[in-house]
Amino acid sequence: MKNAMSANPYRPWPARITSIIDLTAKEKLFEFRLIDSAIREGFRHTAGQFVELSLFGIGEAPISISSAPSKQGFIELCVRASGSVTGALHRMKCGDIVGLRGPFGRGFPFEEMRGHDVLLVAGGLGIAPLKSLINHIHDERHDFGKVTIAYGSRTPADIMFLDQFKMWQHRQDFDLHLLVSQPDDEWTGEVGYVTQCFEGLRVNPLRTYGAIVGPPVMYKSVIEEMRKKGISYDMIYMSFERQMKCGMGKCGHCAVGHQYICVDGPVFNYWEAKNIQGAI
Ligand SMILES: Cc1cc2nc3c(=O)[nH]c(=O)nc-3n(C[C@H](O)[C@H](O)[C@H](O)COP(=O)(O)OP(=O)(O)OC[C@H]3O[C@@H](n4cnc5c(N)ncnc54)[C@H](O)[C@@H]3O)c2cc1C
Ligand code: FES
Repeated sequence: MKNAMSANPYRPWPARITSIIDLTAKEKLFEFRLIDSAIREGFRHTAGQFVELSLFGIGEAPISISSAPSKQGFIELCVRASGSVTGALHRMKCGDIVGLRGPFGRGFPFEEMRGHDVLLVAGGLGIAPLKSLINHIHDERHDFGKVTIAYGSRTPADIMFLDQFKMWQHRQDFDLHLLVSQPDDEWTGEVGYVTQCFEGLRVNPLRTYGAIVGPPVMYKSVIEEMRKKGISYDMIYMSFERQMKCGMGKCGHCAVGHQYICVDGPVFNYWEAKNIQGAI
């Protein structure tokens, strides 16, 4: 958070919950508005960055920003209830106050991607950070070539942002693939893991950037499929999660070898990720 964060980067800034949308049984989309107008106006993020969300008296948790950088004045976080902070957030209401620090980390190389085709692949909750990138590309669609989005969920009930995806499915300028590995009787879409759709994808390897966010088990197979399509390792980016505390390279909680996931990442290209133990 520019300016004011530089005064004391450990101090969370109060933000009001302005909207809560149930996405699935486990995930909700929260919209926040920073209360201090100077902080709010100074807040600039890139897709792939995260904030530290504080619930006073409970604790902090790192959460990816789901809204596009172009959505100014509001910050969206898509949160799965998985423990003390995220569980307590799920019990909060519109109008309640939380704390936010950030934005932190290195996001996707949006400017580098501009002018190229993009192949964006998400699994499960990985759609949260990727949605920020998808929305940013959507807002500046004329600057991109072919946009392909592949999003895999376990069941149809686990799909987040279904309404938005349904809208995009009808657009000629988005090639959208929604897959579920455990379909129900009503599912008429694609079935399988997210890699299943690669066979039918037409990719120009010379001008395509790949972006991957999902559960750790997904990365190897998606990278392999991207390589089969001829996409250069240099143009494959991915985001990682590790246990974090400070979010800004001070406490060492997220250190892997000589890298801090919170400042050197969470987005890395393939070659950088190769040097992170246990990443891919
Ligand atoms: C860069 C980054 C971005 C993230 N983005 C999102 C997001 O957009 N939406 C979202 O719902 N979650 C996201 N997470 C995960 C989220 O931070 C953890 O689930 C959260 O810290 C849990 O906090 P808690 O207090 O609710 O749970 P706790 O009570 O602290 O822990 C619940 C369980 O989750 C485990 N855990 C804690 N932190 C992590 C972690 N970082 N990765 C894996 N397991 C963990 C704990 O060991 C424990 O078993 C992100 C994590 C990182 C590092
Ligand atoms: S979270 Fe403290 S160094 Fe990364």
